[in-house]
Amino acid sequence: MMGNPFPITKEGLDRAKPLYNTYCGICHGEKGDGQGWLVTMPDSKYPAQPKNLMGDDMISAGNGRYYFGIMYGKNVMGGYKDKLSFEERWQVIHYIRSLQANAKSLEYSETANTLSNVEQPAKGTATGPAGRRFHATNAPETQPYFNINKLIGLGLNLRYESDQYAIRI
Ligand code: HEC
Repeated sequence: MMGNPFPITKEGLDRAKPLYNTYCGICHGEKGDGQGWLVTMPDSKYPAQPKNLMGDDMISAGNGRYYFGIMYGKNVMGGYKDKLSFEERWQVIHYIRSLQANAKSLEYSETANTLSNVEQPAKGTATGPAGRRFHATNAPETQPYFNINKLIGLGLNLRYESDQYAIRI
């Protein structure tokens, strides 16, 4: 299981959007549905159907599959490791997750993540206000990442961590 090492932030999603649209959207579509311009334009000679990243198989696919795809590509898709930095690759993965949430009327943002069955920045971690990290030590395996208020509402044991200290609340 590979967690996204970066928290979901609005700033990161804003930065990833143009990166996604430039490097991925031409094939996978701005909505991620596999209907990018390169394949839908009249007389397109593009030889393969880009993966529909909004399909249930890709929604439940782990982050490792995305990271590997970005690094090395697959079949006719080339790799992007020289185009996107380490952080940019992970921000693009966050952005794709936000598109998936949007397509399902779910939320994947700085404050809430209701996109289930998706690997999260770290197991049992939720991002609270101002990028603070809350660890839910007894969060259900399948939904490790929640809005902080929901976590408290569920009576989960939380641990607040900053760079300097960690406290239990
Ligand atoms: C030039 C077109 C093109 C571009 C640009 C492109 N892809 Fe792809 N991508 C494809 C095609 C075609 C496939 C399907 C490959 C196959 O299954 O044979 C694919 C497959 C994938 C898959 C599925 C891999 C798997 O494990 O099945 C992921 C994830 C993916 N692309 C992500 C991205 C991301 C993220 C970017 C931008 C950094 C990107 N792609 C850019 C054409 C493209």
